[in-house]
Amino acid sequence: MQHSTIPLLIIDFGSQVTKLIARRVRESGIYCEIIPYQNITTDFIQNARPQGIILSGSPASVVNEGPLMPEAVLKSGLPILGICYGQQLLVHSLGGKVEGSDHKEFGRAFLTLAEDSPILPQLWKENKKAEVWMSHGDRVTSIPKDFKVIAHSDGAPFAFIANEDKQYYGVQFHPEVVHTPEGAELIQNFTHKICAIEANWSMDTYLEQAIVDIREKVGDKKVICGLSGGVDSSVTAILIHKAIKEQLTCVFVDTGLMRLNEAENVVSLFRDHYKINLIHIQAEDLFLSRLKSVNDPEEKRKIIGATFIDIFEKEAKKIKDAEFLAQGTLYPDVIESVSLSGNEAVTIKSHHNVGGLPERMNLKLLEPLRELFKDEVRDLGRTLGMDDAFISRHPFPGPGLGVRILGAVDKQKADILRQADAVFIEEIQKAGLYNEIWQAFAVLLPVKTVGVMGDGRTYDYVCALRAVTSIDGMTADFYPFEAQFLGKVTNRIINEVRGINRVTYDYTSKPPGTIEWE
Ligand code: XMP
Repeated sequence: MQHSTIPLLIIDFGSQVTKLIARRVRESGIYCEIIPYQNITTDFIQNARPQGIILSGSPASVVNEGPLMPEAVLKSGLPILGICYGQQLLVHSLGGKVEGSDHKEFGRAFLTLAEDSPILPQLWKENKKAEVWMSHGDRVTSIPKDFKVIAHSDGAPFAFIANEDKQYYGVQFHPEVVHTPEGAELIQNFTHKICAIEANWSMDTYLEQAIVDIREKVGDKKVICGLSGGVDSSVTAILIHKAIKEQLTCVFVDTGLMRLNEAENVVSLFRDHYKINLIHIQAEDLFLSRLKSVNDPEEKRKIIGATFIDIFEKEAKKIKDAEFLAQGTLYPDVIESVSLSGNEAVTIKSHHNVGGLPERMNLKLLEPLRELFKDEVRDLGRTLGMDDAFISRHPFPGPGLGVRILGAVDKQKADILRQADAVFIEEIQKAGLYNEIWQAFAVLLPVKTVGVMGDGRTYDYVCALRAVTSIDGMTADFYPFEAQFLGKVTNRIINEVRGINRVTYDYTSKPPGTIEWE
């Protein structure tokens, strides 16, 4: 979706939590974008026409050659909220003083309120106190002369400062993190009351505009979309289909490494329910033959990726006049990360789910989700009328069961694992735990153990169960199932899945483990 204007501009100086500022602003119904400080010019601001600016934190130091305030910011005359480094930069640029300190303040702090202000959360006004989260080394030691102190803490005499005439606000703490309980309200007061931005960012309006934009961009050309069965590519396909109907063709490659009934479900959802043109390629034999006797996880990944691309390219070339390749790229993949180590080069993280294909096939990219966070994509899916059970499915890795069958992969093992996995997920759903868990799955180990069933000796595979909670997949905790639950799942798997005679549960968190076993 093309935004001609950015109502709220977040200028990024490299903080790890800049994305959270954007989350808070969007949750309050206002569209915003994160722009690296190097890109901020008067022209940029004139084109984007923001009504307010938030300056992010940074690992750098204002007193030690950290990034400077882009000139265009103060010239704009717009309301500004500076957070942590952003506050220090504001103070530094307006004639106040910032000093380095050996004493880093990190964690919870309590502020005492000194002055009233329309930016303050209601509870803070009532209690004259505030609980906030601090994380800083440098601090402000004197404020520009036209500023006042709104609140202070024992460690930070200038924890919250303002020049209400100019609508400049500076906070030493981090209102964007959940550890500042009323932080979201503070940011909302800034955007709604101080900047007076109309809160009209919602999935309904996003959807309407996205449809207009897709039609305009695509014209009468054709679009190809690789469907994995996952949430992002599915929402991408359904959104594009709503906009351009039969100009869209989806390609679904069945690798033979999908979960139980997954391929059938994808085909029936897209072809039968949504009536989307779908090319369903059954490529199990090809994938399994290329993977035969390959043990190394990285080699398996490479083979699966390359085989996928071979097939996709061959099929896509058959679609005459295709000009666009649709991808489910999300906002976290496209935010330009500010690099403060060594050179100031801007690294752009680009997400090519189908590695290099657009260039190879001379296709233009269509990425209608590139401004959305994951949970916004789920919201959009719901707005498009997709089933909630489908929208909230656990993530599934591109290489599929290929990285959950440890060592060499073959059809027998894939079938065994599919069944064990389905039993585990079914029990999690029955226990009402599915949405509490980020990801749950079974792993087939390449070892056999001895067991006894009835009167006979068995010699079969071991299966490991893995379930984790996580916010973003970067770190994770094992899920603490009750022993009784694990006992029940184990019993069912051993009784119902021929080929497994022992089940273990994985209590490893990430780090030091990863979520997948390979
Ligand atoms: P790890 O195992 O690295 O996984 O802790 C973190 C998240 O990423 C998923 N994952 C992948 N997704 N292609 C993908 O599309 C891959 O090769 C891949 N490897 C891991 C994993 O399922 C988890 O959600």
